[in-house]
Formats: sequence, C-alpha cells, structure tokens
Amino acid sequence: MKNTIIAPSVLAADFANLQRDIEIINASEADWFHIDIMDGVFVPNISFGMPVLEAISKHAKKTIDVHLMIVDPDRYIKTFAGLGANILTVHYEACPHLHRTLQAIKAEGMKAGVALNPHTNVALLEDTIKDIDMVCLMSVNPGFGGQSFIENTYSKIEKLKELIIRKNASTIIEIDGGVTDKNAKRLVQAGADVLVAGNFVFKADNPMQTIVDLKKITTL
Ligand code: DX5
Ligand code: ZN
Repeated sequence: MKNTIIAPSVLAADFANLQRDIEIINASEADWFHIDIMDGVFVPNISFGMPVLEAISKHAKKTIDVHLMIVDPDRYIKTFAGLGANILTVHYEACPHLHRTLQAIKAEGMKAGVALNPHTNVALLEDTIKDIDMVCLMSVNPGFGGQSFIENTYSKIEKLKELIIRKNASTIIEIDGGVTDKNAKRLVQAGADVLVAGNFVFKADNPMQTIVDLKKITTL
C-alpha cells in the first residue's frame, strides 16, 4: 500500500490566525508543514521570512519542509537549520554549485531537496540525483499560491522516476502547485510521494476533512 505524504502549504493560511491554522494541521492527518520562503528576486513575490518561521516552529508538531525560492540560498542554510527546518529545498535554477549546497544542507542535519521550475528538465539531475533526498517538481511557476496546475508535470514525474530507478537512488518526489482532488490520484500513480496543497486545503470549508479526503484518494 502506498501512503502519500500530504504537506499543506502555510502560504495559504490566514496569517492573522496563524496559530489556529497550525493547530488545525497538527490535529489533522497531514504529514508535513510546507513553508514557502520568497525573496522578491528569485520569484516576483515576497512571502515571509525567519521571524514567522520561528513562530510557526514553536507550534508545529510535524516535519517542517522549507521551500526556499530565493537567490543564493547557501547564505541561510545554517539559519534555517536553527529555525527547525527538517527538509531544506533549494532551487536548481538558483544554485551554480548545487553539489556543494546539498552537502552543506546535510552537514546541518537536514534532508536536502532540489526544486525544478516547470521549464527545467529533470535530466539535469543525472549527476546529482544520488545526493538528493527529495526532488520538488514545480507544477506552477513559483511565486504565488492558487495557480492552475501545469499538465506537463505528469510526464516529468515519469521521467524523474525512471532516472531515480536507473541510478538506484532513494530520492522521493514532491509535487508543488495547483494540487487538488482532481489531479492527486493521477500524480501518485505517476510516481509522486509528497503532495503540497495550499489553497485546496486552507480555503476549503473544512480543511481537516479535505486532508482526510486527499489521503484517501492517494492511498493506492
Ligand atoms: C508556489 C509555492 C507553493 C504554493 C502552493 O510558489 O511554492 O507551495 O504555496 O499553493 P497552491 O496549492 O495553492 O497552488
Ligand atoms: Zn512551495
């Protein structure tokens, strides 16, 4: 049986009621917290930074999966480890020395993730896949929640899965952007292990039940 990891994206939470929304996720069947950090340079939006993550960490009782959409992420690896990140994901497009960055993340005791923008070919990970704990395939252009899912993602998952198997790597696959009950099952069938969901969870009438439903749909 395949048990898919569900990672609600806090970007879609109500920031004026952040503790309440974190407690909802704590009490739910969700597995991780997905935390989007945007710098207004790598992506055309600014989300939130260290003080907010520090506040989230105090209450969050599940794995903290931090997605850095920032230039030069190497500068902040130690900082994010100190703020409670369990998984730190950097963008392939922001890392000219990706291998070094991955080693630095692991040296701080975190799992190392690499995110690929929709236009970035999975074949570019041929030489690093064995060093990567998780690949995050962006299924929207990063920067905003609530965008619609890019259909080409399914074939990227299949290509990535093929690469992981061929290289005998233990990398898991995360999908980020536009995930709903309409595409969740097909994503998992294609090979996804982790589904990030922002708006679909937090803007639902009943986020807890929505997570239960997502879990059910994706248990194959
Ligand atoms: C987009 C972020 C996503 C976003 C997902 O740049 O990386 O994690 O919060 O939100 P939804 O699920 O609403 O597309
Ligand atoms: Zn994200």
